[in-house]
Amino acid sequence: MAEEDFKRLTAMAYDISGIVLGDHKKELVYSRISRRIRKLGLENFSQYCQYLETNQATEVNEFVNSITTNLTSFFRESHHFEYLAKEIIPQWKKQGRSKPIRIWSSACSTGPEPYSIAITIKKNMSVSDYDLKILATDLDSDVLKKGREGIYPLSDIEQLPRDYLSCFQRKEATGVGMVKPDIKSLIQFNRLNLLGSWPMKAKFDVIFCRNVVIYFNKDTQKELFERLADQLVDGGYLFIGHSETLHGMSTRFESKGRTIYQKVR
Ligand SMILES: C[S@@+](CC[C@H](N)C(=O)[O-])C[C@H]1O[C@@H](n2cnc3c(N)ncnc32)[C@H](O)[C@@H]1O
Repeated sequence: MAEEDFKRLTAMAYDISGIVLGDHKKELVYSRISRRIRKLGLENFSQYCQYLETNQATEVNEFVNSITTNLTSFFRESHHFEYLAKEIIPQWKKQGRSKPIRIWSSACSTGPEPYSIAITIKKNMSVSDYDLKILATDLDSDVLKKGREGIYPLSDIEQLPRDYLSCFQRKEATGVGMVKPDIKSLIQFNRLNLLGSWPMKAKFDVIFCRNVVIYFNKDTQKELFERLADQLVDGGYLFIGHSETLHGMSTRFESKGRTIYQKVR
């Protein structure tokens, strides 16, 4: 891959998604785009750049799906789900049943994050008595498809406590666990670019924006945290990833402990 082609691809990735692909990501770009090149029957990166530029309407989506990193797992950073169960859900119960409850998993990948939220909620409150919805969004259309299906290898869920495992239908023959319909029905999966416009009118009580801003530069992060604050109700909560911080990024949140923030204004 010529330096010039790498630069064209990284510029494109940044413009579309905000993802910064530095020189240390050259191998990643090489291996992921090589797959597209083979699939399209092209000969080299230069041809791919040309193809991407002239077939933007169809190829941009495939390109973006190729460059995103989708690592995730059920109950990843489990202290967030403990905080949800022990601090936030009791507040919702006190508020009464008439107030809608809205939660956003804003870079949901293949779905373990929104499903972990749904399972936590289902196990700690009588969901059907509340107007509660979870929105799960991601830029990558392939991961959203997996999220909507809600079918995971048993190895992804085997470590979960028995009580949580009851939220999956086990299929030993095929080695998968399928999320049960009562959990699935709490979640709506939609495609959304965090850098684009957001169609949601309602504000959220809780936003999970975890392990995605690490791929963005500081300016993009600052702008995004400002928009996330606007999209939260006053007193709403923001969860971010373990290697991310709001320190020096936003003054609109108060820290509530490890990577948990509450909107102050
Ligand atoms: C490492 S995964 C994190 C998944 C989950 N939040 C977690 O912590 O386990 C990062 C996700 O961010 C998504 N992503 C990257 N850039 C995005 C953007 N501009 N808008 C929305 N999602 C984006 C990727 O597609 C990927 O699924």
